[in-house]
Amino acid sequence: MTATDKIADDFNSSISVDSRMYKQDITGSMKHAAMLAACGIISESDADQIIEALEGILNDIDSGALAIDMEAEDIHMFVEQVLTERIGDVGKRLHTARSRNDQVAVDVRLYLKDQSADIIAKLKKLLSVIADQAADNVETIVPGYTHLQRAQPIRFAHHLLAYAMMFERDITRIEDAVRRMNYSPLGACALAGTTYPTDREMTAKALGFYGATKNSIDSVSDRDFCIELLSALSTVMMHLSRFSEEIILWSSWEFQFVELDDAYTTGSSIMPQKKNSDMAELVRGKTGRVYGDLVATLTMLKGLPLAYNKDMQEDKEMIFDAFDTVNICLDVFVPMLATMRVKRDNMYRAAQEGFINATDVADYLVKKGMPFRAAYKIVGQLVAKCIREGKVLETVSMDEYKAISELFDEDLYEEISLETCVDKRNSAGGTGKASVLSQIEYIRSIAD
Ligand code: ARG
Repeated sequence: MTATDKIADDFNSSISVDSRMYKQDITGSMKHAAMLAACGIISESDADQIIEALEGILNDIDSGALAIDMEAEDIHMFVEQVLTERIGDVGKRLHTARSRNDQVAVDVRLYLKDQSADIIAKLKKLLSVIADQAADNVETIVPGYTHLQRAQPIRFAHHLLAYAMMFERDITRIEDAVRRMNYSPLGACALAGTTYPTDREMTAKALGFYGATKNSIDSVSDRDFCIELLSALSTVMMHLSRFSEEIILWSSWEFQFVELDDAYTTGSSIMPQKKNSDMAELVRGKTGRVYGDLVATLTMLKGLPLAYNKDMQEDKEMIFDAFDTVNICLDVFVPMLATMRVKRDNMYRAAQEGFINATDVADYLVKKGMPFRAAYKIVGQLVAKCIREGKVLETVSMDEYKAISELFDEDLYEEISLETCVDKRNSAGGTGKASVLSQIEYIRSIAD
């Protein structure tokens, strides 16, 4: 066989992507060597030498004393090559009863378990920041919207907590995916298992898995865990993107509901009045990448016959990109939200201006005995009058009210105040105070 063409070699190589799994690769090899010795497949002294040398390689890569050779085909080949350079023929015994197919499958799972734990920790930090902002804004009243039209007054805390519930579900989605991923494919070998008397449960336990996978063909062909994590990460991004979109709207001159800290905005090079929410926009924009990673991975897998095919090498580029993107987005989003200033007066004014308590005026008349249809008509006239005269329902005088209906009385103002409207909605999960406080408590219990 002649040597592979240089361009083909580069094309085939995955080291630039998978070198980041060196720790998982070396750890997997150490546990594999220990198992080989325990099962009498290699000698104890060979295993000791291999494990010691692997530990040295790990330390040297960590410290920078050993640079990863980007000319190697992948991280598995690189580590094995250094191992044999360092301890000679003994190193060549490591690759007994395994193949790169089960090796890469176990490395990726180990790596993604760590990555998932990091993302969950960051999502919990986000939950605690949302809880803090919510706690500061229990008494902040803002219009709640449907169709982007002012609909009913709500506590701003309640609105923020809606996002906390989404991110809480995201955490459980990632945890679920990790639970299903938490079985070790190591020892499945190329696809059919091995003739050596291995102990797959031993390596599985030593690497922190619940146990070993049950079918060797599936073990080396399965990338469902990538799909599940990519789907969970896409959902995280979709939530971050919706939240970002609202923050962008709220910080616009038209809304002026919030102000982002200068640390998380940029100015314009030619328009000095501008403060752009670039970070939030980028989070929204990067959502597309993560969806792309999901679709690319699904598409890569869809026509693959069993078992391993080189196509599958592409999985890492996509799943790593998705984790990197969510990581960086959370790194910037969390402090951006923590330092966001809420302009309570503007929110309150917007809640007053939209006649969002009109239904409550009608309900008031109904309680005093008027049929709802008649009350509805009167309130319609009132709103028209307010618009004509530049007033809101709270600033119409009692004389004016009485001129329209004798049923109006001084208690009306109390009844239609935004505070009352919000407090009255005390159904479970509603915007009433008790519900909002218990939501904050719930979110804090998950965040800590
Ligand atoms: N670099 C490969 C990957 O990431 C490792 C597995 C190679 N196996 C093989 N039979 N060529 O998928």
